[in-house]
Amino acid sequence: MSKIDVGILGATGTVGQEFIAQLADHPWFTVSWIAASERSAGKAYRDATPWRLSCHRPECVADMVVERVMPTRAPKLVFSGLDASVAGDVETEFARSGHVVVSNARNHRMDPLVPLVIPEINADHLQLLSMQGAARDWPGRIVTNPNCSTVVLAMALAPLRTFGLRQVVVSTLQAISGGGYPGVASLDVLGNVIPMVRGEEPKLETETQQILGSVNAEGVEPYPVTVSAATTRVPVINGHTELVSAVLDKSPTVAEIVDALRNFSGRPQELGLPSAPSQPVLYLDEEDRPQPRLDADRNQGMTVCVGRLRPCPVLGYKFVAMGHNTVRGAAGAAVLNAELMKAEGLL
Ligand SMILES: NC(=O)c1ccc[n+]([C@@H]2O[C@H](COP(=O)([O-])OP(=O)(O)OC[C@H]3O[C@@H](n4cnc5c(N)ncnc54)[C@H](OP(=O)(O)O)[C@@H]3O)[C@@H](O)[C@H]2O)c1
Repeated sequence: MSKIDVGILGATGTVGQEFIAQLADHPWFTVSWIAASERSAGKAYRDATPWRLSCHRPECVADMVVERVMPTRAPKLVFSGLDASVAGDVETEFARSGHVVVSNARNHRMDPLVPLVIPEINADHLQLLSMQGAARDWPGRIVTNPNCSTVVLAMALAPLRTFGLRQVVVSTLQAISGGGYPGVASLDVLGNVIPMVRGEEPKLETETQQILGSVNAEGVEPYPVTVSAATTRVPVINGHTELVSAVLDKSPTVAEIVDALRNFSGRPQELGLPSAPSQPVLYLDEEDRPQPRLDADRNQGMTVCVGRLRPCPVLGYKFVAMGHNTVRGAAGAAVLNAELMKAEGLL
């Protein structure tokens, strides 16, 4: 099979670097075009990008010239790790020019005709793409993945739908890398907790309903769960931890919920997609896990870890969930979306 050329919008940023790492040896995709801001355009990738991942910068991109975010020379499939201040207009322009944009940015996520996809949970939401084609003035397509903290929450909640998921209270302890580079100043975050991540709480509360929801003639019917979120930034490099309490209609035992989490799997596992983790949700029995430093990289960062499931005297059940924010919560999520689209004949 010949590989599909792909481009990366925002290739120099935190998520962009993770895209480069995820795609360097990908069996289906090959990076042939990269773009970023005017600050980087015209420079070789090695000069434009202070590489900050612990893996080596792949040699295949080192001498590639960073282009402007214009669709003219880009391949049909582009991943977007653009800053939200520009992502909306740029992604629309690419879709208008016939490109398929697989985006991390928030700008198009709540558009009723743009699929907001976690392939294990709602692969069927890709059917919105045909409605998008009919209703929008663009021949291309836009597909999004959720906010990094929403991915962790939604993956942990999806297996609980079978018990009638009704109310959720979640408090997050979010890694610094979630804010991009340079992110929060070290003097603000070291030895500290910042009790707010700007704009994050509404995303957790609405994107979760959207992802767990079902597609109808108008778009997505949100899943009837009420989510209340409180978000914090903590001095952790990678891995968002979330403390979750959930009210369920039924009264399963703790063992039954653990079974549901452990047995959860979806379309990526059925199709054997290259980036699909064998176990999308890993339940850890140790009472002091999951921990971001020890567990964020499990299954190349694509698994969400859950632990400490126990009864909650106020809200039914409580547990801890944790996932890698720039992999499962960003670049890895988008690559998995593109793999799903390819496998389903949508590219
Ligand atoms: N970090 C995470 O964990 C995470 C998770 C999920 C979603 N996201 C979303 O993913 C996107 C990227 O986040 P990030 O953390 O990678 O941010 P980042 O490190 O600040 O990178 C932003 C990227 O956007 C480019 N850019 C900025 N302004 C631009 C402009 N005016 N025109 C063209 N390109 C421009 C930057 O290029 P230069 O280097 O040339 O400035 C850089 O490549 C955001 O929308 C964010 O909300 C991030």
